[in-house]
Amino acid sequence: MNICHVVGARPNFMKAAPVLRALRSYAATEQFVVHTGQHYDFNMSDVFFQQLEMAPPDINLQVGSGSHAQQTAQIMSRFEPVVLERKPDLVLVYGDVNSTVAAALVCAKLGTKLGHVEAGLRSSDRSMPEEINRLLTDQLADLLFTPSVDGNINLAREGISEEKVHLVGNVMIDTVVRMLPAARQTIAADLPEHFALVTLHRPANVDVPEWLDEFIKALVVIGKQIPVLFPVHPRTRQQLLARGKSLASSHGILLMNPLPYLEFLGLQTRATVVVTDSGGIQEETTFLGVPCLTVRENTERPITVTTGTNLLVGRDPQKICAEVKRVLSGNVKRTGVPPLWDGHAAERIASVIKGKAAGTASTG
Ligand code: UD1
Repeated sequence: MNICHVVGARPNFMKAAPVLRALRSYAATEQFVVHTGQHYDFNMSDVFFQQLEMAPPDINLQVGSGSHAQQTAQIMSRFEPVVLERKPDLVLVYGDVNSTVAAALVCAKLGTKLGHVEAGLRSSDRSMPEEINRLLTDQLADLLFTPSVDGNINLAREGISEEKVHLVGNVMIDTVVRMLPAARQTIAADLPEHFALVTLHRPANVDVPEWLDEFIKALVVIGKQIPVLFPVHPRTRQQLLARGKSLASSHGILLMNPLPYLEFLGLQTRATVVVTDSGGIQEETTFLGVPCLTVRENTERPITVTTGTNLLVGRDPQKICAEVKRVLSGNVKRTGVPPLWDGHAAERIASVIKGKAAGTASTG
């Protein structure tokens, strides 16, 4: 069986790594990796391949930045010849980025089997580009691997046949489990005992200059109570620079370049509180038991709120400050880890794929 993995943006790499490893043990499988080039900076891409011990991508489509339509169209037109030439039996796509939906559309048009890892997540907010990517990819996929039962419920509601859907757990947590010892090694000896770790990159947040100003003011308030460590995403950096903001650290806020996987995971394990608008970080903090304040009105990962450490604080800077204060006072909720977030999700995916391949072989 010839399997193609498509990755493109930072949050894809730690999801694909364990699936590649799990399928490697299956002798009847050949695999190749296509990187769309959506993320191309060393610290947004290459360093993840190195740290996650992934071989460099077999093919890089080098699409780079652009509007959503441009980026999606470029990926489609450059990925189609790859599928035609390499004829994969199955293409696996990950998460909800533009690379995910672009590759899914190519597969659907060519009649190539498609698997979606991290299927079924829904924020019900169609103003998020990722929600559109999730909805469309799931409609097109032949195999849908869900991280939690809410995914199965969402897919059933959208009329997707139950036979296609497999509840396997969270592959991102597979990587956390494997990399935790190495991540702990990266923790600097002089790291403050208590600190807030901040990330921010959603267009709905960072592309609204007035809101970004208010958020930075909130960080200044928080920085007076506890050091703030803030690795700045390229999109956020561009917006801050466009506003003439200094990227120098001040007021208890340490601004940094985007961090490699291990260094960021190491910081998460030790953070007193995480403030973020990321999807994956909501899950990682839930697994690690670290309080997470999500700067959004909704989440496609509600299990991190109902079971885990996540709290939606919306986009109200005062609420963010108040909730940080609450965490610092020691008032944190009792939490747990969702079922199947156990480090073995990729093995379950591999087992489903092997089962399908065996079924095809015996019936074909
Ligand atoms: C993308 C994903 C988002 C994911 C995020 C993680 C979509 C729709 N969004 O958002 O779901 O959470 O990645 O980072 O796919 N840039 C660089 N260097 C890079 C990559 C990007 O400077 O290596 C710049 C681009 O020029 C662009 C901006 O960052 O101006 C945003 O990049 P883009 O890939 O369009 O979306 P993200 O905001 O990163």
